[in-house]
Amino acid sequence: MESLLVTGGAGFIGSNFARMASERYRVIVVDKLTYAGNRANVPEGVEFVEGDICEQSLIDDLVNRTDATIHFAAESHNDNSLRDPSAFVQSNVVGTFTLLEAVRKFEKRLHHISTDEVFGDLELGGTDAFTETTPYNPSSPYSATKAGSDHLVRAWVRSFGINATISNCSNNYGPYQHVEKFIPRQITNILTGEPAKLYGTGAQVRDWIHVDDHNDAVLAILERGRTGETYNIGAGDARSAHITNKQVIEKICDIMGGDYVHVNDRPGHDQRYTMDATKIRRELGWAPTRDFETGLRETIAWYRDNREWWRGDKGVVEKQYAERGQ
Ligand code: NAD
Ligand code: TYD
Repeated sequence: MESLLVTGGAGFIGSNFARMASERYRVIVVDKLTYAGNRANVPEGVEFVEGDICEQSLIDDLVNRTDATIHFAAESHNDNSLRDPSAFVQSNVVGTFTLLEAVRKFEKRLHHISTDEVFGDLELGGTDAFTETTPYNPSSPYSATKAGSDHLVRAWVRSFGINATISNCSNNYGPYQHVEKFIPRQITNILTGEPAKLYGTGAQVRDWIHVDDHNDAVLAILERGRTGETYNIGAGDARSAHITNKQVIEKICDIMGGDYVHVNDRPGHDQRYTMDATKIRRELGWAPTRDFETGLRETIAWYRDNREWWRGDKGVVEKQYAERGQ
């Protein structure tokens, strides 16, 4: 493999991936530049094509020009999917279908990026975790469309024999994450003199992983993963913050010297996500290496040092949240 097509490479995880992968591969990014995509995120030296993954002729051409496609492009925010799910169905389901057809036609390698949210949620206080064989039970329009896209990939492997792998990862944090998401929203609230905003009681639990640990895992699957297999990715209990939203917000407030308030809860709010990443650790020798406390401090410093990057989006995002009492 010499060349990679990275869909959604102007977004958070995809642009961090393009930066990492461009040290080893020739990378082409295709991105529609939705509200979440930013041309400035695409690293220097990486070819950029502005376009929609639902456009078959464009995707055919790009898939054919590269050895493998890493598919990050998606509508990615749960709260937006509750407001208007239509773009989620289009980009996440139809977009993945379009890509699968191109991969089938040109017999290329595909790695599909998905989320732990396809499994639904776990009870608070439990110690069980999602494995690769946990039945799908998505709660929100976002997770339902991601689940749909995973099913399409599996069906194309089984029915047409395409060379594809899937990974389901837990909540990412790190630089270049849109300010609508939990951690950057709180950091930028405090930087703009606002309190941090906690949904409901904040008892919900997420399995936080640094974006570079996620992308290390994606490269390991791309290079050494078995065709047709799914791999769960999560920081687990090793070095992660497998902690409540309240604990995360308190940590941010402690480090930055800010306060938080409780706001309206999210309807249908998933309680707990915990990933069992034993398979990828055993089979591919991957393990997360970034600890949450250090990663969080570095992420806070990044948002402090890059105000121009997020200032323009902040007002728009906060106006939307305010309409929902959040
Ligand atoms: P993001 O919203 O920051 O980036 C998504 C990118 O996709 C944006 O640049 C956007 O412009 C682009 N895009 C959207 N629709 C498109 C279309 N139709 N054609 C071309 N480009 C399009 O999202 P992210 O957080 O970087 O997530 C990337 C992927 O990782 C998604 O598939 C998401 O489901 C998955 N994921 C995210 C997390 C997380 O914590 N953020 C966790 C697990 C999995
Ligand atoms: P989010 O970053 O939207 O990711 P996801 O919904 O994929 O888990 O939210 C992470 C958690 O933080 C989730 O439980 C909702 C909560 N949350 C808040 O408490 N306040 C906020 O302002 C936001 C955006 C999220």
